[in-house]
Amino acid sequence: MNILKSRLAQVSSSAIIELIRGRFSIVSRSGYSVGVCSRHVQPSRYLPFSTSSGNGSNEEGTQQKETISVTFVDKDGEEKHINVPVGMSMLEAAHENDIELEGACEGSLACSTCHVIVMDIKYYNKLEDPTDEENDMLDLAFGLTETSRLGCQVIAKPELDGIRLVLPSATRNFAVDGYIPKPH
Ligand code: FES
Repeated sequence: MNILKSRLAQVSSSAIIELIRGRFSIVSRSGYSVGVCSRHVQPSRYLPFSTSSGNGSNEEGTQQKETISVTFVDKDGEEKHINVPVGMSMLEAAHENDIELEGACEGSLACSTCHVIVMDIKYYNKLEDPTDEENDMLDLAFGLTETSRLGCQVIAKPELDGIRLVLPSATRNFAVDGYIPKPH
């Protein structure tokens, strides 16, 4: 019994030392308190109940990365700034914000009407390389440039925050047969 008491005393004093060193945090769940090694706790799961004095900056940082700022510049030079959720294509973002980017095949890489021009080469270089299918469609695009991409293949990611995309003055559908597609 005495040996047991002595071991318990050793364990609790080492836990106190760890607590002072900041390796433990006190977490309260379901109305009782426990000592938990912070290296084995998922911070987001325990944050609402933790007594630690975090300022929430991690949470804010995560929220900031959930959308990126994108500017579309139309053929008249008018700019429209929108916030695009990470993971969404520029074609979807344009349609959700009433920006005139056609997208006749709705992102199935069977047209070039979602052609956009990345204004800044630094952003262009941050994009994934175009696939052969995208390059084939880009070859058909009206007014192709060195930084042309298909809007349906440009997916929002944090590194693209601040990207500016020019909408070409025409697409191949307009240029060839004058057809004006109806909005989706
Ligand atoms: Fe047709 Fe992008 S919408 S290729």
